[in-house]
Amino acid sequence: MNILYISISGNTRAFAKHLAEYAKTQHERNADFPEISLKEIHENSDFEKETEPFFTFVPTYLDGGNGLDNGDTEILTETMREYLEYEENHKLCLGVVGSGNKNFNNQYCLTAKQYAQRFGFPFLADYELRGTPADVARVYQILVENHK
Ligand SMILES: Cc1cc2nc3c(=O)[nH]c(=O)nc-3n(C[C@H](O)[C@H](O)[C@H](O)COP(=O)(O)O)c2cc1C
Repeated sequence: MNILYISISGNTRAFAKHLAEYAKTQHERNADFPEISLKEIHENSDFEKETEPFFTFVPTYLDGGNGLDNGDTEILTETMREYLEYEENHKLCLGVVGSGNKNFNNQYCLTAKQYAQRFGFPFLADYELRGTPADVARVYQILVENHK
């Protein structure tokens, strides 16, 4: 299974790495459980046309708005959105996993929800900050159920 992610302050990167380690352990126990390969999208990434299905992981950075009835602006993660737009990469995206901080109330994980709405792939799961070991196991299970 392939994961594309963006991480500004390292939380999503840490979670993705834990997920890949967990997948490796699961795979060693039972080869039916798929391993995970990771690709980080940076501000200076060379954009490529994706050729295999993947999951997108995106944290939330919004400027302004309350997530309900007034505007909010995506900041810092736009490269991920542009990457999904590039060569229609979003068509290979099986779903998005969002992260954020629940202190942001209605804006919690909103970027992932906005991607799901904009591109038409499912919002699969959310977790806070770096996530917990329980989040890793839960999210892995959800990816397994949704990968083709
Ligand atoms: C300027 C700023 C704005 C943020 N806005 C939101 C937000 O609107 N909703 C949310 O759920 N989390 C918000 N967060 C929390 C981040 O999404 C959270 O810390 C996430 O784990 C960062 O992931 P990263 O370390 O991979 O970049 C914000 C954090 C910062 C620093």
